[in-house]
Amino acid sequence: MRRATKLTMVAVLLGMALAVGCTDEETVFTDRPVFDEPADVAGFLGYYMVDGSFEAKQTACGNCHATYQASWHTTGHADAWAGLQSSDHAAAYCENCHTVSQLGNLEVEDVGWPATGDERYHDVQCESCHGSGLEHASGPTAANAPLCSVEAGTTATVGCGECHNGAHHPFVEQWEESNHGSTPAWEESGSTTSRASCRICHEGRQALVDVFGETSNYLEKDGTDPLPIHCVVCHDPHGTDFEGNLRADPHSSGLTNLCIRCHARSGTPPSSHGPHAAQGLLILGENVGWIPPDFLSPTFGGFLPEPHAHGETDEMCATCHVTTFEVTEPETFNSVGHTFEAISCLDAVTGVPVPGPCENTDRDFRVCDTCHGGEGQIMLEDLVAEINLLLDQLWDDEDADCVLDQGDGGLLPLVVFPDTLTLYPDDDLITVAEGAWWNAQLAYTHDRPCFGDATLYFGLAGDDEEPADGTKDGIHVSAHKASGEGIHNPDLLRALLEASIEAVIEFYGLGL
Ligand code: HEC
Ligand code: HEC
Ligand code: HEC
Ligand code: HEC
Ligand code: HEC
Ligand code: HEC
Ligand code: HEC
Ligand code: HEC
Ligand code: HEC
Repeated sequence: MRRATKLTMVAVLLGMALAVGCTDEETVFTDRPVFDEPADVAGFLGYYMVDGSFEAKQTACGNCHATYQASWHTTGHADAWAGLQSSDHAAAYCENCHTVSQLGNLEVEDVGWPATGDERYHDVQCESCHGSGLEHASGPTAANAPLCSVEAGTTATVGCGECHNGAHHPFVEQWEESNHGSTPAWEESGSTTSRASCRICHEGRQALVDVFGETSNYLEKDGTDPLPIHCVVCHDPHGTDFEGNLRADPHSSGLTNLCIRCHARSGTPPSSHGPHAAQGLLILGENVGWIPPDFLSPTFGGFLPEPHAHGETDEMCATCHVTTFEVTEPETFNSVGHTFEAISCLDAVTGVPVPGPCENTDRDFRVCDTCHGGEGQIMLEDLVAEINLLLDQLWDDEDADCVLDQGDGGLLPLVVFPDTLTLYPDDDLITVAEGAWWNAQLAYTHDRPCFGDATLYFGLAGDDEEPADGTKDGIHVSAHKASGEGIHNPDLLRALLEASIEAVIEFYGLGL
């Protein structure tokens, strides 16, 4: 694994011939010192300055941590100073974010570049994130190793957000607004942070290990406070082969896609909680939906739809959900797509993404229009209307109370009221009605929210009495919205709903 290779050490001999470091078998001995006399009172080492090492961007840390040095060297962080200089409006106040300074680490007073103006502190180096290395480099132990923080937040005084903020690159601001940063599910269900089986996707510390296999040490690693889906969950600060130093490809079509690793919890019945993070499964068309018994018969075309164009490699999740654009009037703002919303609501005056909900006319359909030439909004609305009509054929909640009652329209009330246990998703038996209900939960749109939050059997034996089957005053069935208003797989959703309607009619003999 990575950890083993990263600890490949190059030799360790200080200027005064004091030998430090490791007896690791992979250690290569050289006779050069590992760092220069620090220029900084706080003990920041910066680049090693001997024999062209500065030009080669050889960090002092990298003299021992050779594998980290090599991978960090491939990241934009290693070119941050040149990037700044290439701008025609570089100024002194720009520099702290493009050098080793107090930003990113635990320091608060000026250190590194702003304290000394020494060029060894150019670029975003190891110590930008890890902090001062003198003590550790002078006699490295695990106990004195400068550990990095993975904290993120607009008020944090450590971490990536200390530099990745502001109108030009509001990563931390937009991320904090997103559900990856604000984590509403933590409040909705206590088990998302307490149960190991939920923490895998809902808690940053465990997601790093279980979803991405990253076992490295950092400041909060042994803590117990839950961490959100923070920057380092998705981005490897030491560089990867993927764009943006991501831990996996967010554009590839398959279960290893960055987003699908978490957005693929459950797509097939039975589950009393309905589909859960089924977006990835839906778009791939894998392990998703209830397939009616004769779905594959010629009546329904005899085959499952081909994977939809929206799920093709290079056109995956991040294409729609991580989109960037710039507004210059009335003020410059560079949206970096870290709200992770596909069709964000935009502030009518500034054009800046704001939390929804809002009317479609206030949404940003630019990403759709890149492929659909100005038709994105209309195509979405047509598809939503089509799906709504199909859903209504299963259950039309005429009194809009989210309770499936006898007076409601559609096929399911006709099935449920003679025989209530036909639709009882809390057991392992999947009836045709339950299969159809599952597909409706997968497909539902913002206009039909009750499929995600409904009560069945309520008031069956009169409003005040318990129904004979002991289901108390109705059972509550929920589901997490998965369809992306139908966009996650228009063809499959249509096919599943049409087949479900047919199956309910045939199986329960509801035909004319
Ligand atoms: C003189 C060689 C040397 C230098 C220079 C050096 N390290 Fe280390 N580092 C080590 C060794 C050896 C270990 C393993 C220590 C152990 O496990 O006892 C280590 C461990 C670490 C660890 C892991 C701690 C853990 O809990 O697993 C981190 C993080 C680290 N170093 C960061 C840095 C950073 C950042 C710098 C530069 C500021 C740096 N090191 C400079 C030799 C060095
Ligand atoms: C708050 C920290 C911060 C300040 C202050 C700052 N930058 Fe940056 N700069 C960044 C970050 C973070 C990025 C990377 C953003 C991204 O990838 O979208 C960046 C990227 C850049 C890039 C693109 C680099 C490349 O190689 O593509 C240029 C050019 C740049 N900054 C110039 C400037 C200039 C000029 C100033 C001062 C007027 C400035 N920066 C001030 C944090 C900062
Ligand atoms: C942008 C911030 C950032 C930079 C720059 C950075 N690191 Fe790290 N480093 C981290 C974070 C965060 C972790 C913990 C999580 C991880 O490894 O993904 C870490 C972990 C480590 C570890 C712990 C490994 C273990 O097995 O426990 C070592 C060693 C390390 N970094 C060395 C370096 C060296 C050497 C450099 C420079 C060549 C460097 N880092 C540059 C943020 C950074
Ligand atoms: C000291 C300020 C600073 C800190 C701390 C910092 N960054 Fe950066 N980051 C920058 C600047 C400046 C750039 C633009 C560099 C360039 O391209 O010239 C950048 C670029 C990037 C890029 C795009 C570059 C590439 O290689 O594709 C990513 C991704 C990134 N940072 C992620 C992170 C993450 C994740 C963290 C926290 C673990 C972090 N950064 C911490 C200043 C910082
Ligand atoms: C480590 C797991 C993980 C990864 C990786 C991940 N997500 Fe998420 N995502 C979550 C969790 C958990 C939530 C729900 C958080 C909550 O509600 O508390 C969420 C929420 C969301 C939401 C908001 C859903 C809503 O109900 O409004 C969107 C949109 C989203 N993610 C898109 C993405 C995209 C796009 C990617 C890839 C770039 C991605 N996610 C990668 C775990 C992940
Ligand atoms: C859920 C996963 C996820 C999280 C969490 C996340 N990002 Fe990203 N980030 C992405 C994706 C996806 C891209 C787009 C890469 C692409 O276009 O291929 C991206 C792009 C970036 C880029 C631009 C990279 C480039 O090549 O120019 C920077 C910088 C960045 N993120 C920083 C951050 C910071 C800072 C945080 C935390 C505040 C953060 N990200 C949190 C997934 C994530
Ligand atoms: C395989 C990853 C994964 C696992 C494991 C997981 N979840 Fe989720 N969960 C997600 C994602 C991704 C989202 C956001 C997308 C969605 O709501 O469909 C989410 C959303 C949620 C929501 C918010 C729903 C909403 O509509 O806002 C709750 C509550 C929740 N999960 C609870 C749990 C509980 C409790 C467990 C453990 C029994 C759990 N999750 C296990 C990935 C997972
Ligand atoms: C990378 C290109 C691309 C992007 C981005 C994209 N689409 Fe598509 N979309 C396609 C292709 C290709 C098809 C299949 C051919 C067709 O139906 O036009 C399609 C099909 C559709 C369909 C199905 C039409 C039907 O009746 O079957 C709808 C609706 C749709 N897109 C809406 C959207 C919306 C809304 C967005 C933005 C959120 C979007 N698309 C973004 C390429 C794209
Ligand atoms: C063609 C564009 C497109 C692609 C590709 C796409 N989405 Fe979506 N997604 C949307 C639209 C449109 C919405 C609805 C947004 C809204 O209602 O605000 C949405 C909504 C969501 C939601 C909120 C819950 C829901 O279903 O309404 C999550 C979570 C999500 N997408 C995750 C993903 C993941 C993960 C992927 C990759 C497997 C992905 N999306 C691929 C367009 C897309």
